[in-house]
Amino acid sequence: MSRLVVISNRVAAPSGSHSGAQGGLAVALQSALREHGGLWFGWSGEQTETFTGALHETQVDGVTYATVDLEEQDVEEYYEGYANRTLWPLFHYRTDIAEYERSFAGGYQRVNERFARTVAPLIRPGDAVWIQDYHLFPLGAELRKLGVENRIGFFLHIPWPPRRLLATLPGAKALAETMFAYDLVGFQADEWLQAFNEFALEDMGARMEGDMLHVGHRRVQACVFPIGIDAAEFVAMTQTTRARLTYRQMRDSAVGRDLIIGVDRLDYSKGLEERFQGYERFLEAHPEEQKEVFLLQIAPPSRGTVESYRRIRASLEGMAGRINGAHADYDWVPIRYVNRGYPRDVLAGMYRAAKIGLVTPLRDGMNLVAKEYVAAQNPDDPGVLILSRFAGAAEQLTEAVLINPHSADEMGDAIYTALRMPRDERIRRWRALMDVVEQKDVAWWSRAFTDALLTVEVAG
Ligand code: G6P
Repeated sequence: MSRLVVISNRVAAPSGSHSGAQGGLAVALQSALREHGGLWFGWSGEQTETFTGALHETQVDGVTYATVDLEEQDVEEYYEGYANRTLWPLFHYRTDIAEYERSFAGGYQRVNERFARTVAPLIRPGDAVWIQDYHLFPLGAELRKLGVENRIGFFLHIPWPPRRLLATLPGAKALAETMFAYDLVGFQADEWLQAFNEFALEDMGARMEGDMLHVGHRRVQACVFPIGIDAAEFVAMTQTTRARLTYRQMRDSAVGRDLIIGVDRLDYSKGLEERFQGYERFLEAHPEEQKEVFLLQIAPPSRGTVESYRRIRASLEGMAGRINGAHADYDWVPIRYVNRGYPRDVLAGMYRAAKIGLVTPLRDGMNLVAKEYVAAQNPDDPGVLILSRFAGAAEQLTEAVLINPHSADEMGDAIYTALRMPRDERIRRWRALMDVVEQKDVAWWSRAFTDALLTVEVAG
């Protein structure tokens, strides 16, 4: 079996076990790496004055973890700049806040070249290489320039924007062309795959032959592989001591009221302002429901050095304060707004205690909170998932209450409907959702991608 080389901006902490504190993706890639044996390469998260290329290496369970430090200017231009101030907003349809700076594009290219030069000597003949996410679009092309002929696949965890939006990016075609250095590219949802195909066909003169896209003499297979969670592990987690304790504490502190839960990285793509507005609309339209419910919004701060993230943080603080000020009573607060993260077993207990999971991003590649919420429910008395139509997950989770997150009225109505939904309908919807979450789990995802990468016809 081929060894697997995974390359991503962030590398999970090496861990021999499925530690509760790890994110789903880390667990998934780790299990794929353990199965194949291999290497995980990326940024250490550390900054130095100048780039040395020195590797920090550790081995756990037959997997090598190798990271490099980046220099300060790299972090500014590549990570904070091009990745998070240019590509992230643009790929989430926010051309209004995307920043197009030549220095960012230069830093992005430089780091991708540095990554390529550092990792190339570690790649052995026969290894399959799997590159992750928007930080590293050009890495495959850079590896090819260095003579790497291995199978190389790329998976995009975020949306691919419509061609008219992508056209606003200086160098958009050159960026999209780098996708043709790969043998296989994977997207989270059909909508993102179609947008990529359209850009390639309409703007790059690509042609489709069978299921391969061709540009000049280069070709690539582009497919959808919706990422999942470790459903079995998450279900088991709801039965841990910590999850049960959290569940009890949540129920006690709810004093008979219904809990609505939201859990998101504090990011403008998550639609948190719209969520607060929709919830307030519900409270105003149904005064009799006031004091019968509360919203717990968990939002750990993220990318705090980027201005747009500081702005959304300040705005949400203002909104939570205003809504609580306007509606709270001496014995009830409508929103509990919490700026910190929790371990996954604690979250499992919270999800299980919640009557509604409110997942309303304006755009999201997939959204795994929606799947975790489903997996955490009590099969005999499950809660209701309210899900944005604009999350990749909506293509799979069609039995959720699907809403347009831009409409406060629609969100308010959905909350009301969900709170009154009869138990048999909740069970029927949950069963259908849980089937998807269990069948298309994270092991399915990583196996589907690696199998496709190992069998895709490569240019000879
Ligand atoms: C998204 C991206 C990931 C990224 C994560 C956290 O899920 O798709 O690539 O790692 O956000 O963001 P951060 O900037 O902290 O790595």
